[in-house]
Amino acid sequence: MTAPLLSIENLTRDYALRGRGGATRTLRAVDDVSLAVEAGSVFAVVGESGCGKSTLARIVMALDRPTSGTVRLGGDDLFALSPTALARKRRDFQMVFQDPYGSLNPRHSVGRIVAEPLCLLDDAPRGRDRQALIARALEEVGLPGSAAARYPHEFSGGQRQRIAIARALITRPKLVVADEAVSALDLSIQAQILRLILGLRDRHGLTVLFITHNLGVVDEIADRVGVMQAGRLVETGTVREVLDHPREDYTRKLLAAEPTLAVLAQRERRAWRAGPLASCD
Ligand SMILES: Nc1ncnc2c1ncn2[C@@H]1O[C@H](COP(=O)(O)OP(=O)(O)OP(=O)(O)O)[C@@H](O)[C@H]1O
Ligand SMILES: [Mg+2]
Repeated sequence: MTAPLLSIENLTRDYALRGRGGATRTLRAVDDVSLAVEAGSVFAVVGESGCGKSTLARIVMALDRPTSGTVRLGGDDLFALSPTALARKRRDFQMVFQDPYGSLNPRHSVGRIVAEPLCLLDDAPRGRDRQALIARALEEVGLPGSAAARYPHEFSGGQRQRIAIARALITRPKLVVADEAVSALDLSIQAQILRLILGLRDRHGLTVLFITHNLGVVDEIADRVGVMQAGRLVETGTVREVLDHPREDYTRKLLAAEPTLAVLAQRERRAWRAGPLASCD
């Protein structure tokens, strides 16, 4: 096995909660989580609301610090880097958020939005080269380069997620963290965005940490999956191992709690097959 691109070891994140009368108690949002993600693969983290998925995602993005444990990306321990070295490293990991409406500044042109992460590069191109780079990022996600001159409100939810993905790709990151990146979209649009992400994995060897509460989505997109319960990773394996032969009661409960999931997955698979190849919605 080659060294994983992303390696998380014994990660814990405690939050101090202040109650009435000033008493504090500790909430362990992430509890001793270890996982490894191979370069060029999609690793899904699945679990119920409040189990700690977004906390984990924020720490992997170095937007929050762990209470203990390590996150290594390409061999570097993110939280042992100097602020300058971490700032330089940020080009290697980018994020796509859930809300395709709130995550794009409505007053900025699409071109300006997509170019935002270029400030992380020392040698960011300017002028025509910059415009060409923006156009290429938009084309990569199935949008015309001319979209750069338009504004977010002119686009549908699915197209906005494509814009958010173009923004995430512009620094040519090694890792993209997607936190519920398709949850707000209609099923057929979800299928198109999932297919886009898989295409990026295959064409560019992109590595994806894909956070979702939806096992149907896991079935479509992930190579491996980790099941999270109350901050802990209770089961990890290939998608087929975990979904077809769950070892944990909690995973079985997740599968059973949503009897529509099989139907959902089936419907999504159908939309997947029927969907036009590189179209935008
Ligand atoms: N900044 C914070 N301060 C205190 N508690 C927090 C903070 N962020 C998250 N939590 C708590 O940590 C736990 C995990 O939250 P988190 O947002 O990571 O869950 P999640 O799995 O992403 O949930 P969802 O599926 O609803 O998005 C929750 O109990 C939450 O209330
Ligand atoms: Mg969340």
